[in-house]
Amino acid sequence: MCGIVGAVSERDVQGILLEGLRRLEYRGYDSAGMAVIGGDHSVQRAREVGKVAALGDAMKANPLAGHLGIAHTRWATHGEPSQINAHPHMSGERLAIVHNGIIENYQELREELRADGFEFTSQTDTEVVAHLIEKNYRALCNLHDSVRAAIARLRGAYALAVVHADEPNHMVVCREGSPLVIGVGIGENFIASDQLALLPVTDRFMFLEEGDIADIKKDGITILDREGQSVEREVTRFEHGADSADKGEYRHFMLKEIYEQPKVIKATMEGRVTKTRVLEQALGTEAANLLENVRHVQIIACGTSYHAGMVARYWIEELAGVACSVEVASEFRYRKHVIQQDTLFLCISQSGETADTLAALRQAKKAGFRAALAICNVPGSSLVRESDLVIMTQAGPEIGVASTKAFTTQLTALLIFTLALARHNGLPEEQEAEIIEALHLVPGQVSDVLALDGEIAEMSKAFMDKNHSLFLGRGSQFPVALEGALKLKEISYIHAEAYPAGELKHGPLALVDSEMPVVTVAPNNDLVEKLKSNLEEVRARGGELFVFADRKADVKAEDGIHVMQIPSVHPITAPIVYTVPLQLLSYHVAVLKGTDVDQPRNLAKSVTVE
Ligand code: M6R
Repeated sequence: MCGIVGAVSERDVQGILLEGLRRLEYRGYDSAGMAVIGGDHSVQRAREVGKVAALGDAMKANPLAGHLGIAHTRWATHGEPSQINAHPHMSGERLAIVHNGIIENYQELREELRADGFEFTSQTDTEVVAHLIEKNYRALCNLHDSVRAAIARLRGAYALAVVHADEPNHMVVCREGSPLVIGVGIGENFIASDQLALLPVTDRFMFLEEGDIADIKKDGITILDREGQSVEREVTRFEHGADSADKGEYRHFMLKEIYEQPKVIKATMEGRVTKTRVLEQALGTEAANLLENVRHVQIIACGTSYHAGMVARYWIEELAGVACSVEVASEFRYRKHVIQQDTLFLCISQSGETADTLAALRQAKKAGFRAALAICNVPGSSLVRESDLVIMTQAGPEIGVASTKAFTTQLTALLIFTLALARHNGLPEEQEAEIIEALHLVPGQVSDVLALDGEIAEMSKAFMDKNHSLFLGRGSQFPVALEGALKLKEISYIHAEAYPAGELKHGPLALVDSEMPVVTVAPNNDLVEKLKSNLEEVRARGGELFVFADRKADVKAEDGIHVMQIPSVHPITAPIVYTVPLQLLSYHVAVLKGTDVDQPRNLAKSVTVE
């Protein structure tokens, strides 16, 4: 959460920083701010509550001129969203800092610094770091050394960028537990929480390792590791098109990303499957070795990625016959585990920077799992760098806070992984071929669902004035229902709960009345007849049903039952296809309600704090 960006250049940096913030806004949008060291070697600062546009407007009237600057877009953790709590924070008039992360021991440091005479103007943990560095600076007169001494006293997670008016030609940056990338330019250099922020100015990036501290000058970058040793970090080129942070013809990023799904699902399959088989080597040279003796899979993830893991459990147990457990990372990391022998630890994350998921991975690496596999969308992310084996999804940058194409590409990658594992566990070749053939049909089937967009928009009108809703699915469609409910609640703010349809009669049926729309996904599988009985239970209580159903499932539209026909799909690939109408439904409800679709309240794209 929170986005930081910095630049040191021959040219004025205000425009670069503002555009960087705009591109980082998905990480937080409670307030935004910037500090620039001007020609007179003083720190100029601007901060505004609300979105980056508000900062941009304020800066039109009062521009900040200078060749070195840092900026921040905030997702509030310590202290309400307000100008006083907005970054950059300063210590005195000469030091400014931006921070992403959480300092856990900030209270004790605050007391200590107060006793030293430092005055606090905000409720943030970040201001503590500013004063701590300034205190060191008074003794050491060197920004790099002052930052190093300060971070030695911090507990928690941080990516920091610090400037000091007495050293107007460079910034000092460091990371521990929060992402930070250096953008390498020609005669200018940059830093940001995400390479996306810097695509207008460079496509060459260096990823800092945990514990690194770097000095960024316009004509040079020096990096020291945790021990203070000088280190080189590899320069990599950004792989996706530079237009990925643009909405193009679409009204929202979320809609653009929903429509990109046929293309990105295909891209995630490319090079990994033939017409009938999984190319196991394409999962990594170590894949065969690693999969051979896996007896159990432990999946860890959060939010939408967790739902992808839940779908995968059905596949892994059904196709590979391997036991699989799925748990949200924030729970997993705080309990004791019984680790079965030969358990593969599998993390799923779009961003690869989710704090809970990373913490779980780091624990797992010490705990005796067979190996750690990551399914991730961001090359160079912490998760990718710290895992033994990685399967990259090819969704491209996902900007909308509500995850869409990341989910369907995660499912695609998970199904390919499952088939590779299943081959080691005796899945017959014909069955592998049947599923791969079905997977090849998915991009086309998703396009067919996208063609229903107009009808789904029409259907969404029934949800506009509702406060609650229920989503039902059975088997591997239950996680799809969970994902549909998550989408609706996060962008339309309508309370949505998902249940396995068979569980309805054990409680939630009491909620059903004409004010509670019930959304159901009904592919034609061996549970469809049971599902239909569950729908009758709803209908008998006056509930209004909205059913996305396979034509062959023979769900009839009647009074109180609205049916939208979905192309026939293989039961194994059905979760990928049936997710899409639920994404569109949520999108249209949110548009009708006039909420901020891409940046819903209280949320941020990448949850890099606990
Ligand atoms: O980047 P990750 O996949 O690790 O993120 C996990 C969740 O924070 C994320 O899926 C979140 O639930 C989305 N807002 C859902 O749309």
